[in-house]
Formats: sequence, structure tokens, C-alpha cells
Amino acid sequence: MSSLFHDRCLGFLDTVPHDLRRRFSNTFSEGALDFTSNDTLALSTHPALKAGALDAIERYGIGSTGSRLLSGNHPMHEAVEKQLATLKKTESALVFGGGFHTNASVLRTLMALPLWAKPPMLIMDKWIHACWLQGSHDAPLVRYRHQDFNHLERLIQKHLPDHTPIIVTESIFSMDGDITDLSALGTLKQKYPDIFLIVDEAHATGTWGRAGAGLVTPQHHVDLITGTFSKAIGCYGGYVACAAALKEVLVQKCAGLIYTTALPPMVLGAVKAALDLIPTLQNQREHLYALAQKTRERLQQQGWNTGLSQSHIIPLMVGDNHACLTLQNRLAQRTIRLSAIRPPTVPPKTARLRLSLRVDHTERDLDRLLAEISPI
Ligand SMILES: Cc1ncc(COP(=O)(O)O)c(C=O)c1O
Repeated sequence: MSSLFHDRCLGFLDTVPHDLRRRFSNTFSEGALDFTSNDTLALSTHPALKAGALDAIERYGIGSTGSRLLSGNHPMHEAVEKQLATLKKTESALVFGGGFHTNASVLRTLMALPLWAKPPMLIMDKWIHACWLQGSHDAPLVRYRHQDFNHLERLIQKHLPDHTPIIVTESIFSMDGDITDLSALGTLKQKYPDIFLIVDEAHATGTWGRAGAGLVTPQHHVDLITGTFSKAIGCYGGYVACAAALKEVLVQKCAGLIYTTALPPMVLGAVKAALDLIPTLQNQREHLYALAQKTRERLQQQGWNTGLSQSHIIPLMVGDNHACLTLQNRLAQRTIRLSAIRPPTVPPKTARLRLSLRVDHTERDLDRLLAEISPI
């Protein structure tokens, strides 16, 4: 690296304010009460997932050795895709390397293909996850106010004469924990059949919906469901669930599938075990829903603003970046871990501690958190 470039890197880092500087977290602090992870069903350490991964390692080794179009395809990819399509009640599913990677590469592919009656126009929720913006690249894009379907409908009406609107939203928002009114979205789809509807089920699959299938059902008329194996499924990887013809188009054209090494069999072994387990975990999900409700109520009684949360993801709204970091660090010293989420991940002046509940959290854990956290 030239010394000029080196100095520019240091100069750039100097422009990042201290309280917005990103740092790796200290996740594996022994004995900490952890509210940061997305391992909602506590499957990442489940014996059945470990056994599934180990069995696949014994049989097939570690790596997948290539793209699925070359040496990397495996019967386990197809088995997991079948399981996903059954869970999601779609014709088919397609597995990718990671959740972010799935969404970014699929969207970019879709926008570039000659699939649309008119040039496509992206219409995304204002608080959509960063991977979708990455995937939008330089495509025409407008945003609707968070969860404001009146605004969305006005944008659809405005753009429909010249464009095919591609709507992108999440069923549960990752930083706010609010749940999207998918029935209202389905009604829009019926009213404007030319729109194309994409719903990211990253935080719903496994945790919400019938048998943990996520919140999207065939009644919502969603054209493309996406998700990740890295949250309630406890592993790593991503997928889409959609019509068989669309899957085949992606196999032909999606660079993020074609030109990358396939998800390794050991991960698929664990994913398969998780997908087998998920329908059986309804009691655990009921516990999670009840705990989330109680957590919100008790936090609000203490004076906390829990934002829009309706799910296991509960923001504790702080506002000021520095105060948010200070609180995070104070709790960490007391071995309680919550993530400080600051702009630009969330809108300005909405820094918050993100509390993500898991099925193995108990009311005693909640008591401990509430005893340590005082209203700001
Ligand atoms: C809504 C949403 N979509 C996609 C992703 C990306 O998933 P992954 O972490 O598996 O890359 C995330 C993760 O933060 C997310 O919250």
C-alpha cells in the first residue's frame, strides 16, 4: 500500500465520529446474559444440528469444492430446497451462500432481466435492510414511508403507467421488531396484479407463523420470499422460495449463484436438521411470544420506549449515540449484552439498544435485565 493511500485511509477514519465508530463485538464473553444474538430458537448449539453437520462432514468432508453448476451440487442442496418449498408452500426453493448475498444478488439479477412488461421500478420500505439497497445497484428506486401502505399505493399509482413496480419489504423488521401487515400487501397485489412482491422473511422463518413457517402464506400473493439460515435456523446461508419457473431463471442468470462456491454439505446437514425440528417447537415459540409481551410491558412500566416492537425483537429507544454506547458498555460490565444500534443503520437520533429474545431466555433473565437497566 502506498504511503499516500495509507494516509488517506487514516484521514478517512479520522472523519468517523468516535460514537459512530463500528467495532467487532465480544460475543463469546463467558457467562454473559446475551440479548444480542439472532439464534431465536437456540438451534445453533442444538445436538441434532451438530449431529447433522458431523454426519455430513464424515460422509462428504468440509467444503463443497465448487459452484453448484460445476462440482459443488449435492443431493443435500436439493433435499433442503424440497423441505423449504414444503415449509413455505411454494413450488420451489433455491439455496444460496448467505442471506445478504441472496438478497443482493437476486435483486440485482431480477432488475437486469427482460422479464418485465415495462421497465422495473423498485419501491422499497424506507427501513429496508441494507442488503436490498446493495442489490438495487443503480436501478430506479423510490422509498415509501415505513409501513405506510397509503404512501406505497400512491407510489404504485404514480409509477404504474410507465413502470413495473417491484415492492420490497420485510415481514419482521430487523431493528424495530414490527410486523408487516401482509394481508394489506396481498390486497394491494390483488388490486394491482402487475406489481411484483418480494418479502424478506429473515426474522420470521422458524419463529413466527404456522409451524414456524414464517408469516407469508399463499393468501398474500407474494411473488418471491427470501430468507436466511443464519437466524432462527441457527446456521449460515440464504434461500429464496418462489415459482419453479423463476427458480430456473435464477439458475440460468443469477451471478451470485453461478459464480460462487456452493453452501457446504456440513451446513446443509445442520440446516436439514433444523428444518426437521422447527415444526415441533410450537411450545417454545409460545413461550417466546409470551416473554416478548411481558418484556415490553415491564420495560414500558420502567419508562422505556420500546418503539414499534410487536415481536421478539425489542428496541430500547435511547436517541443519543453516546448515551446508547455508554449504556451498552455499562450493561456489558455487568455481563449483560445488548447491541447498541446507531445511525446510519437506523435513522438519525434513533440510536437504540436492540434486545433480541430467544426461546431459552427465562423470566429470571428478564428480572436480571430489568434490575440492571435503569431508565435514562
Ligand atoms: C432483514 C434481513 N435480511 C437479510 C439479512 C442478511 O442475512 P445474513 O445475516 O444471513 O447474511 C439480515 C441480517 O442481518 C436481515 O436482518
